Amino acid sequence: MLVLGIETSCDETAAAVLQVDAINRCSIKSEIVASQIDLHAAYGGVVPELAAREHLKNLSITVDQAINSAGIKQNELEGVAVTRGPGLKGCLLIGLEFAKGFALANSLPLSGVNHIEGHLVAPFLEQHGAQLRFPHLALIVSGGHTELHIVEKFSKYTCLQRTIDDAAGESFDKSAHLLNFPYPGGAALARLADTIAETPHKLPLVMRSSDGFSFSGLKTAISLLIKRTQISSQEQRAQICLAVQRAIVEALVIKVEAAIKQCKVQQLVVSGGVAANAALRKRLAELKVEIFAPSLAHCSDNASMIALAGGVRLIASDYMQMGQSVMARWPVEQVRQI
Ligand code: KG4
Ligand code: ZN
Repeated sequence: MLVLGIETSCDETAAAVLQVDAINRCSIKSEIVASQIDLHAAYGGVVPELAAREHLKNLSITVDQAINSAGIKQNELEGVAVTRGPGLKGCLLIGLEFAKGFALANSLPLSGVNHIEGHLVAPFLEQHGAQLRFPHLALIVSGGHTELHIVEKFSKYTCLQRTIDDAAGESFDKSAHLLNFPYPGGAALARLADTIAETPHKLPLVMRSSDGFSFSGLKTAISLLIKRTQISSQEQRAQICLAVQRAIVEALVIKVEAAIKQCKVQQLVVSGGVAANAALRKRLAELKVEIFAPSLAHCSDNASMIALAGGVRLIASDYMQMGQSVMARWPVEQVRQI
């Protein structure tokens, strides 16, 4: 099935065209991402109203670009998949209402995709995804989400842990902000951390025994550390970055390690923007599991993952009705099982 995917849940306007035959059989014909980072950088974070307006401005151009660079005609498309939630309500509405109009105008079936389900299937966009089997464990770490799931099969998820306050990406970004990196800052903080091997600073290892991920205590410790340290050189700044990165990575690894022991799975998916973090990938690779992380472009928000998840649902005749709307909050374990 030739599927158009649309993603507008946060600050990326994305469209992609994929041939989807099954969860582990797809080919990407085109994928376009229009990032809004420059727009929000001036405010130090995503401004929801501005993000929605920017989606409105860019979405139809982005969709046209995706269709043209796929080398297909609009009437060759066989389905539309769009992010229905979770995400920023105004942003989701722009994507969903556009997708409804597009589907109606072209007589195509529509799938309303859970954004986290998109991140969960992202490894299947890569060649090595062919080796990924069910059940497996999946760590989703992004700017808005930190979740650990058992993926029984496509569409059947059991949540083991979820963040109760800040997400891992948010912790990276807030620390980066305190260290004067421009928004979103997480990747830049990680790059500077990776330039050195040791740091004299130690941050508390949080969440060892508690349930769920929680980064708010760590955030306080990080801001105290930054306040009491006289940063007068780039090396000192790098030392703090390394301490921050280690603390966040270890907080994630502790939970993943416990889950691997508990569930006895052999494969681990790590997906979402923070999955791009090299130190996290390295630490996870030391655990006794096979790691499946998407390529960097498919770690962060993109429309290919939405087209794949939606395409599989459309093949199973799981359609979204035109009267249904967005779901700004939508735990992935509540998606319809197919
Ligand atoms: O999945 P994503 O693109 O958007 C959301 O759905 O949130 O994730 C973006 C997040 C941001 O917080 C960004 O700082 C973080 O991923 N990020 C990183 C790295 N690259 C992106 N955090 C740590 N290390 C990185 N290399
Ligand atoms: Zn995301």
